[in-house]
Amino acid sequence: MPTEISGSTPTGPEDRDATRFVIDEALGYVYAGALRAVAALGVADLLAGGPLTVAELAGRAEVHEVPLRRVLRVLATRGIFEELADGRFGLTAAGQALRSDAPLSARPAVLMLTDTTLWRPVGEVELSLRRGGSVFEDIFGMSFFDYVARNQQTATAFHSGMAAFSDQENEPLAAAYDFPASGVVVDVGGGHGGFLLEVLRRHPGLDGVLMDEPHVVAEHRLDVEEVKGRWRPAPGDFFAEVPAGADVYMIKRILHDWDDESCVRILRNCRRAMNDGGRILVLDAVIPPGNEPHQAKAVDMMLMTAFPGRERTEAEFAELFTAAGLRPARIIPTGTVVSIVEGVEP
Ligand SMILES: C[S@@+](CC[C@H](N)C(=O)[O-])C[C@H]1O[C@@H](n2cnc3c(N)ncnc32)[C@H](O)[C@@H]1O
Repeated sequence: MPTEISGSTPTGPEDRDATRFVIDEALGYVYAGALRAVAALGVADLLAGGPLTVAELAGRAEVHEVPLRRVLRVLATRGIFEELADGRFGLTAAGQALRSDAPLSARPAVLMLTDTTLWRPVGEVELSLRRGGSVFEDIFGMSFFDYVARNQQTATAFHSGMAAFSDQENEPLAAAYDFPASGVVVDVGGGHGGFLLEVLRRHPGLDGVLMDEPHVVAEHRLDVEEVKGRWRPAPGDFFAEVPAGADVYMIKRILHDWDDESCVRILRNCRRAMNDGGRILVLDAVIPPGNEPHQAKAVDMMLMTAFPGRERTEAEFAELFTAAGLRPARIIPTGTVVSIVEGVEP
């Protein structure tokens, strides 16, 4: 039965539920803040040997016991930790993924996503809406990538976070595409080379080129016996040019960082550089229509506020390809958040 609040329209339980739901949504940031704290402190590593009392854990983490209990309690509501009947806290399956030594550790990605460089811009979504673009420069006085180039600590957090973000998708992505049996592939903006490594591992007839900014290529992870002698570094600027004479140009999680004009420049550079019959693979999320949750819809908020970029729909990718003189050939789902958008000469 609706109850009447004086001077307002009648309300019922559904109104209270709706209001509480929206308030809960507004509290979403506390989970990310708490998650950042335990990732930074290495709490999951301290619990790797099994559950501990909060006092034991606080001693090992060198933090205060009472606030730690509160942080663990709130993250237990999100399935990261669990409180046992005897009051000790342990890791859930999701919590195990926060360990630094987990096979596909999420810890560096959590530290990157909640780093102040991404966190603060998202707090300014309203400004981004009013102005229609990134607010990174308002906060940090320069663009994101300039900031990363000047700040070693942020660079480390970003590149290792990006590598962790990518590690869990690299293998299925390398398996999802029918690469040629031989030839050369270039990973354009390939970071530390995690994806190129997976592609070369799976396709022994291919050689690879790792192209990224010099300070990034210098930190590559391709000193691996399996791919020895089958790759070369190509430090450079993808807006100027990309290495010529390859058969496949892979552009993974790059275009979503940039505005359309910059994307077209990168795509054109690849088109100019590729061998006859070459292919360009854009590996990015393709935003699905409708209301369903999709990680890329959330990442898009981060891109909107901190970068000139955006996550794109199928139609938006087709426009980019066409503007770069390419034919969008097909979109290949991969079972990960990322799809492969293939472009060829028209
Ligand atoms: C979001 S990360 C993606 C890295 C990698 N492809 C992956 O999927 O993990 C973007 C990459 O673009 C690189 N980058 C940014 N500007 C660049 C430029 N002008 N030339 C070459 N690489 C650039 C960055 O250093 C970074 O490694």
